[in-house]
This record gives sequence, C-alpha cells and structure tokens, in this order.
Amino acid sequence: MAEFPVPPSTCFERVADDLASCGWSVQQDALSSELVDSLAAQCKRLWQADDLTPAAVGPLGEELVIPSIRGDYTRWLDDCPPCIANDQFLALMEALRVALNRSLFLGLDSFETHYALYPPGAGYRKHLDRFKGNPLRTVSVVAYLNQHWRPGDGGELRLHLPQGQRDIAPRGGSLAVFMSDRTVHEVLAAHRERASLVGWFRRRPDNPLLC
Ligand code: OGA
Ligand code: MN
Repeated sequence: MAEFPVPPSTCFERVADDLASCGWSVQQDALSSELVDSLAAQCKRLWQADDLTPAAVGPLGEELVIPSIRGDYTRWLDDCPPCIANDQFLALMEALRVALNRSLFLGLDSFETHYALYPPGAGYRKHLDRFKGNPLRTVSVVAYLNQHWRPGDGGELRLHLPQGQRDIAPRGGSLAVFMSDRTVHEVLAAHRERASLVGWFRRRPDNPLLC
C-alpha cells in the first residue's frame, strides 16, 4: 500500500524511548517530502475553499472563539474528502500507536486528528491538551507541513519543560510528540501561513494506568 515512502521503524522506537525518558520527542523527516507536499496541498485547498473553521477554546459545550488566545483554523480529518495522503498519514499514526503501546504499555486505543492552519500573526497561548472535557487524551502529536521554513519565520512550538523552554520549528516533515497531561506548550505567532496536522492518541476509558 506504500504510495509514499515510509520512515524507518526505528523512528517510532526513538519516539517511545524519548517519551519514556523525558516525556517529549521531535523527529525530523518522519514524513517523506512527497507525503508532506500532498498533505500541505490538501490543507491549502481546504483553506482556499473556506472549509476550515476558526478553532475554539474552553470546555465542551462552552467553547468560544477568541483569536487572541487561539488563532488557528481547523477541520477534523474524518470530515475531509478521503485521499491517499490522509490514509497514509493515518497508517503512520497507527504504526506509532502500536510502537508506543508495545514499549510503554499506555493502552492507547484511538486517534483523533485535524488539519490546522495559522494565518500570519496567529498563535495559541500556553495550554495543556488534556483538560476536563478531554480526559482521555494521552499523547499529543503534531506533524508539520511547512516546506522551506526558515529561521525568522516564527511559528515555533514552545514546550515549557521542568528544565526550561524548548522551541521547535514547524519544519515540513518533522513530528513533535509529547505527553498530553503534563506538557504545557504554546504556538508562537508565525510570519507566514503555518500548516500542520495535530492529533491525540486516546487511552481506553477503563485504563487504570493513567489517571
Ligand atoms: C494544539 C497545539 C501545537 C503546534 O493544536 O493544541 O498545541 O505546534 N498545536 O501546532
Ligand atoms: Mn496543544
């Protein structure tokens, strides 16, 4: 089924090792540039067709769009026209889910993901991905779709870690992975459009290991 080159399986083993030792991981070139091009084109089509929706913040049922807090536009992958690139991305994430469960026994059993487009100047203030309305989110993943990202373009993912801040450039093909319950993070404003696929591996509701 490999329509796009796939990363070496060691890439996902490194993610598991990093999560076990420090709770976060960044892998450059986790997605082939062919796959990044296809996913980026799909995101751009959705954006140009006005098919992305302003993202909201706040608990379920009380969501509000507050662009000064969160300025991206999103669409769930489930809700997008099917295409080979989306299927390939989901297949990669399934391989990552299996690798994480094998090494870390996290009991991850599902994955939800959306496209996200930040127009120039937009960001996402400091937050945690696991909150009351989303208690099952266990591992967060961001796949960046921005080819030719340059220093100075902004848009870094800033992780606030016990040992200090760590900034990650949203360079096309790289994958950032971190524990959803403990990793405070933010998205710094970018000076050009910034595209990604953001997703969460969820644990089973009855999994007693992670509360
Ligand atoms: C999010 C988020 C990080 C990024 O959508 O919750 O934190 O780098 N995204 O896009
Ligand atoms: Mn987040």
